[in-house]
Amino acid sequence: MTAAGQLPGMFGGLELLPPDPILGVSAAFRADPDPGKVDLGVGVYRDEAGNTPVPAAVREAERALLAGQSSKTYVGPAGNPEFNERIVAMALGPLAAGLRERTATIQTVGGCGALRIGAELVRVAAPGAVIHVSDPTWANHEPLVGSSGLSLQRYPYYDSATRGVAFERMLDRLEQLPGGDVVLLHVCCHNPTGADLDRSQWATVAEVLARRGLVPFLDLAYQGFADDLEADVAGLRLVAERVPTLLLAISCSKNFGLYRERAGALAIVAPTAATARALATHQARTARRMYSMPPDHGAAVAARVLGDPGLREAWQAELAVMVARMKAMRALLAGRLAARRPERDFGWLARHRGMFSLLGLDAAAIARLREVEHVYLPPDGRINVAGVSEENVERVADCIVSVLDPR
Ligand code: LMR
Repeated sequence: MTAAGQLPGMFGGLELLPPDPILGVSAAFRADPDPGKVDLGVGVYRDEAGNTPVPAAVREAERALLAGQSSKTYVGPAGNPEFNERIVAMALGPLAAGLRERTATIQTVGGCGALRIGAELVRVAAPGAVIHVSDPTWANHEPLVGSSGLSLQRYPYYDSATRGVAFERMLDRLEQLPGGDVVLLHVCCHNPTGADLDRSQWATVAEVLARRGLVPFLDLAYQGFADDLEADVAGLRLVAERVPTLLLAISCSKNFGLYRERAGALAIVAPTAATARALATHQARTARRMYSMPPDHGAAVAARVLGDPGLREAWQAELAVMVARMKAMRALLAGRLAARRPERDFGWLARHRGMFSLLGLDAAAIARLREVEHVYLPPDGRINVAGVSEENVERVADCIVSVLDPR
């Protein structure tokens, strides 16, 4: 009985869960009253002032949409067809037209929705398939994909000694996997390591996937955040040229700044047009059973930006500013750390791509950063370089150096 004299009820046996490894950091940061606190946690872009702006091109598309919108009737489980077509074309480039008949695309609730529906469809089609994720991988990959009920395993990916990709070990594992298993790959800006495959490594991976009949599940959450919209998907396109079947999970959160609008897509390329048509019906049914249909706004905005040459150009210019800032903050922080600890190499921080790198700190160091210095990182010691600014870089460097192992 509770204090109020009520029985605990149906949910009374549920225990309090620990905070989410990433979102829990944001909550703890918000609750910290310290004026000098620094958020290097959740993966959102920040400008020099610490804001996560809505790109001007996105705002303009929103204004035009609102002015022209005459109905809010349902969009349907597959979402906005123009968005689906344009977002896949942005990812696959010149390959998109040739693959069109063999591609089934559904608009999803962000990139997470795409990962979840993709895993669900793998389970429906091949319940015995194992999904292999990189070691390490984004903290939500395993919960999200694993909640489909499929088995998960990890393949070697990151070498903490070189701070690069453990490519030989990765390849060895891929060579041992049974055909029909699924390999989840980060297309660019690997989360959480920042260590990406280079072009020749992608070519090798594409060859192994094709030869061994492995099915790539490509997570494209950061197109345009490493270098630019084309260079960042070169590896994806090499894979798409080689394999008969692939799943592609696309997020518009970061590059369009549409985080809370939950705009994304799942494209599945199948060996035949007939299979793609059947897949489209399964995609729609899966969405219908989970949440019925996606929200309209974010995808409509992205479709408008991509369909209007002026808006698209303006958006790409804004994206270029974001990338330049992230690269500059990487170099700045690497330089400040090297100045404090000249005997150590921090070149990896400048070399990594996108927002993330792993600092290689243990749990005690991460706790100390949070509790003593008010600097917030997720439990894996990932840093979001977009949280660094000209203003806070000295303090961030001091704090990191204070928890590095002794000289
Ligand atoms: C991150 O990795 O921090 C972002 O993708 C946000 C999230 O949902 O975890």
